[in-house]
Amino acid sequence: MNKILFQNIKQLAGILPASVTNLIGKELNTIQTIDNAWLLVVDDKIEDFGGLESITDAHKKDAQIVDCTDRLVLPAFVDSHTHLVYAGTREDEFKMRLNGATYEEIAEGGGGILNSAKKLQNTSEEDLYIAAKKRLDEVIALGTGAIEIKSGYGLTKESELKMLRVIQRLKKESNAIIKSSFLGAHAVPVEFKNNADGYLNMLIEDILPTIVENQLADYVDIFCEKGYFSAEQTNTLLQKAMALGLKSKIHVNQFNAIGGIEVAVKNNAISVDHLEVMDDIDYTFLKDSKTIATLLPLCSFFINIPYAPARKLVNNNSIIALATDYNPGSTPCGNMQLVQSAACINMKLTPIEAFNASTINAAAAIEQSNLLGSITKGKRANLLVTKKIPSLEYISYNFGHNHIETVFLGGVQQ
Ligand code: NIG
Ligand code: FE
Repeated sequence: MNKILFQNIKQLAGILPASVTNLIGKELNTIQTIDNAWLLVVDDKIEDFGGLESITDAHKKDAQIVDCTDRLVLPAFVDSHTHLVYAGTREDEFKMRLNGATYEEIAEGGGGILNSAKKLQNTSEEDLYIAAKKRLDEVIALGTGAIEIKSGYGLTKESELKMLRVIQRLKKESNAIIKSSFLGAHAVPVEFKNNADGYLNMLIEDILPTIVENQLADYVDIFCEKGYFSAEQTNTLLQKAMALGLKSKIHVNQFNAIGGIEVAVKNNAISVDHLEVMDDIDYTFLKDSKTIATLLPLCSFFINIPYAPARKLVNNNSIIALATDYNPGSTPCGNMQLVQSAACINMKLTPIEAFNASTINAAAAIEQSNLLGSITKGKRANLLVTKKIPSLEYISYNFGHNHIETVFLGGVQQ
């Protein structure tokens, strides 16, 4: 039996009752903590926790002791939107942007997603796996305990399936909880230039059934954007996917508001991601909706576009989550601590709001908040022990540093 007792915890933070699956509106700025705490893990779960006075000999018996003096213990972060599987890097495009080209201009010139697709098509499954596993281990060390990973750099049946198999292998070989999304509709490949409908039809009729049959994806995704896929095409894909039992999480409102949020909400999408550009009407669809607004501040930082209106969404009673968007083009960074800093500095979230949006609400964005995202008896022991830091807020404040000392996933030290 795996039995671990975390003792002398300066502060145990992010405690929630099992009934809470997300935090909305003013609740987002609340946090439950215990100072001078202990927490007991049995097997892969949180067995119990409490204040110093409540610890007993039974808790200590046969337990591995982890001394947490001067350290906080937190639920691990959940990164609910990444493109962690990719081939090669795009520093050339970074330099072009520094010289004045925009992200959209580079994409129109055949760079961007199509650039990464060409690289991925020419990379072996084994090499893709090795590179992705290294990135996964790096972000785990930064506190990520669960992660969503998308396909979308294949853009052919063969290469999309190759990406999804890599994600499937990561699921098997990592202690992190991993969810995968099929993002074949990430861009229109050159072979289908001026025939996005033809490409979408191929995705729906040929690739999607194979994916469902082989259980290679948990969600379907699409880039609903001018020059990529329209709201109508998004609706078609979401309907077909739903008929096959796949829920959706979509890229929408990154550069233009073209009606994708309405379509997503009406199709009960789990999340709408990006939202840097919002029409007034878009807020009405997200008000009191179950569809989560997933915001990606490091994408705005890296490609210099507006930040999603986090405050307005919180005040609108929309559920917000934060994620990295880790990918080689718009966000070559998978650090959830930095995401929280950027969300505070540029979106005016409080450090507590940013923490909750990176834990319980992010867990909800991959439908895992019954299992992850808080310190709750019976939840999976995905836990972070911080370095010696003065407070939870310090993680957002002292930006760009790794404040995590040890990571436990399912009760296993990483
Ligand atoms: O979420 N916007 C679409 N997809 C990615 C970027 C992909 C890329 O540039 O490679 C994003 O930002
Ligand atoms: Fe993305």
